[in-house]
Formats: sequence, structure tokens, C-alpha cells
Amino acid sequence: MKPVKVGICGLGTVGGGTFNVLKRNAEEIARRAGRGIEVAQIAARRPNPKCETGATPITADIFEVANNPEIDIVIELIGGYTLARELVLKAIENGKHVVTANKALIAVHGNEIFAKAREKGVMVAFEAAVAGGIPVIKAIREGLAANRINWLAGIINGTGNFILTEMREKGRAFEDVLKEAQALGYAEADPTFDVEGIDAAHKLTILASIAFGIPLQFDKAYTEGISKLTSADVNYAEALGYRIKHLGVARRTDSGFELRVHPTLIPADRLIANVNGVMNAVMVNGDAAGSTLYYGAGAGMEATASAVVADVVDVVRALTTDPENHVPHLAFQPDSLSDHPILPIESCESAYYLRIQAKDHPGVLAQVATILSERGINIESIMQKEVEEQDGLVPMILVTHRVVEARVNDAIAALEALEDVVGSVVRIRVEQLN
Ligand code: HSE
Repeated sequence: MKPVKVGICGLGTVGGGTFNVLKRNAEEIARRAGRGIEVAQIAARRPNPKCETGATPITADIFEVANNPEIDIVIELIGGYTLARELVLKAIENGKHVVTANKALIAVHGNEIFAKAREKGVMVAFEAAVAGGIPVIKAIREGLAANRINWLAGIINGTGNFILTEMREKGRAFEDVLKEAQALGYAEADPTFDVEGIDAAHKLTILASIAFGIPLQFDKAYTEGISKLTSADVNYAEALGYRIKHLGVARRTDSGFELRVHPTLIPADRLIANVNGVMNAVMVNGDAAGSTLYYGAGAGMEATASAVVADVVDVVRALTTDPENHVPHLAFQPDSLSDHPILPIESCESAYYLRIQAKDHPGVLAQVATILSERGINIESIMQKEVEEQDGLVPMILVTHRVVEARVNDAIAALEALEDVVGSVVRIRVEQLN
């Protein structure tokens, strides 16, 4: 049988990795796919020194690939929303299947792209968009298809996890670690996407859609970054038996779905609390399978290429099937997506770590306890540290039971209004993940 011809758009880290893996493992891949896979054209602005492209035709124009009549599958690896959207829509219009690693594109424009792909009967595969080399989309979409998924929680940004790990283990400064992650090629072009949780929110949006069968709704995800975390809180969390991780959490509740990315205290003995450095992990809780955990490299040249090439193999295997029999883009049949709402953060529920800087006066603790109890907030543990020499204040650290966020907001406002409380109350959400 003739080989399937693919075009690679973008020859950066992931594009170069994809070319190399397709070439190196060509025989093994053909045995799996049932046909050879040939890179017929590459679109790149500059060569990649880590990639020997040999006689493969190279153009600077990505649309040449999308319009190339020889090409069956366009692999979009240019990143960003605007040009990537145009490229993918053009490829689909031309009847080509698409494989992409672009989480921002799928999270923001996925609904439009999938509708267009259905119209044209083509596949759009995006395993590499979430958690790099971990086949978590396939696991949720296909492996857990029997389950009603209750919740999922993931460390889905390697740069952020690397920063938090280095801060905790080596006491390194935030900026210093970020520079190293950039040099290692993990960070986004705009690193605020990593540290402010936008990249994780893109990935969480995708995971939530395939877990719950809801349209992609990136604009409704709550996003809070790690740039304001202090080593004091990292250390207090440790003393309480927790680790701080930048977690994406999606949860099914009776009134809607929670979709939130924020620093989170998790018990130090959970497997996921021990996922360190640039590694990613996603925990999924389904009613039949219980909790499952997926771990691996969330970024990097060949780890991400592994997911891209697996998608290419999937597309090749399904080339001769009727479009109605393709695995649905978002795991659920498109006419069966749920319109259950995404909850605003005020309506989400979790436990809370609160750090209050108080004057060392009698009765402060009683006032704090009263404010919380008046709002029905149950205290799980409390830790009061010695007076800090530089300002004479006492750090008071509380962990609450689960409560709806609006009540905690109200309590924090009341705490900050106390005469004996100085500055802002630090609030970090807590998840037990059990
Ligand atoms: N910037 C991302 C990360 C790359 O650090 O995880 C992979 O999406």
C-alpha cells in the first residue's frame, strides 16, 4: 500500500522531535499503522539543527502544506491562536486530517474547529496538547469510557512544577528557576502563561470536556498563578503535612462543573504530591475504575512528539472508516454534550489554608475562631508560630474543612477588618484527593 503523506508545519522543539521520531521509528510505526508514513513537506521559517531533514521539501509558507494536494494529514506545530486557527481551518476545508499539539488553539477555538471537521468528515487529533508524552486524553476518552467521571486533578504545567519543586527543595528564588526552565525549552513563549496558570487552564479545559462531555469553555475556567507564593507558605504547608502544587481541578457537582487552576495544598503522602521537577501527572476519579493516575514527561522534544506521532498512527488506522464511526473529538457524541454550567469560583467548594498575621494580643485567636464559626466554617487544624522578630507579628495558620468559597471570601474580609490583623490574609485551597 502507498505510504500516507503528512506535512509538518513548524520545525521547532516539537516539530523537530516529530520528524526525528517518524524517521527513526518508521518501520515500527508502519507495522502499527498498517502503512508507511512519509513526511512529504515541512513548513519552517528556519532549519532546526537537531533535525536532519535531508531531501524533504521545505517551504516557508505553512499554507502551501495545507493546500498541497499530495498531503493527507497536516501536523500543526506552530503554536499560538491566530495563524494556527487559519491553518487548521484551511487544512480541514481542503479535506485533510489534522494533528495538533496546540492546547491554546483547541481550548479557545476547538468547538469551531471540531464543527468544521465534522462537516468535512475529517479527524482532528490533539493528544499532545495535554501533558506532552502522557496519553491521558486517550485514557480518559477511550480507556475510561465506561465511567461517570467524578473529578480529575492534574499537575499539567511542567515549568510551574519545576519552579515549585526547586523552591521547596533548594530554597531557590522564583525568577532564577524560571530562567532555567526557559533555557531547558519547557516554558511557553510568554512565560506568564506558565506561571499564571493560563497554560494549565488551556489543558484543564480540554480534559474537563472529554471527561464530562461538555463544550470547551476556556473563558469560564478560574485561573490563579504561583507568582505570589512565598517560601514561608511552602514551609508552613510542609509542617502541616502538605505540599503545594499548582493543580488544575475539574469536578462534577449537582449544580455544575468546577474548573479551576490554582496553587493547592495536597497531603504530602499522596503519589501526586511527589511528582517533582518538570514531570506532569493527572489523577482521574471515575465511578467504576476509582482513582487512576497518569504520570510522565509533560513537555520536551520527543516526549511531545510521541503523542503527536501516536495521533498520526490513529488517524492512519481510521482513514478508511466512515466519519460517523470516528472516535468523537470530545469523547462524547457531539449532539449529546451537556449544557450543565461551569460554576464561578465563588460557588466552588474546597478546604482552605489561611495564614493570618496578627498582633500578639490576648483574644485574637478567639476573634478569628468566632468569625469562622459565624460563617459555618469548621476548623480542621490550627498552628500558631512564635512572634516574628522583624515585625512583632504572630503568624496564625488555619486549615478549614470543605466549604463554599463565597463564605471564605466573606470570612477573609471580616478577618482583614480586625484591628489586630495586619495586612492581607493568605488563602490557598486544599484538596485531599481521596
Ligand atoms: N510550557 C508547558 C509546560 C509546555 O511547561 O508544561 C508543555 O505544554
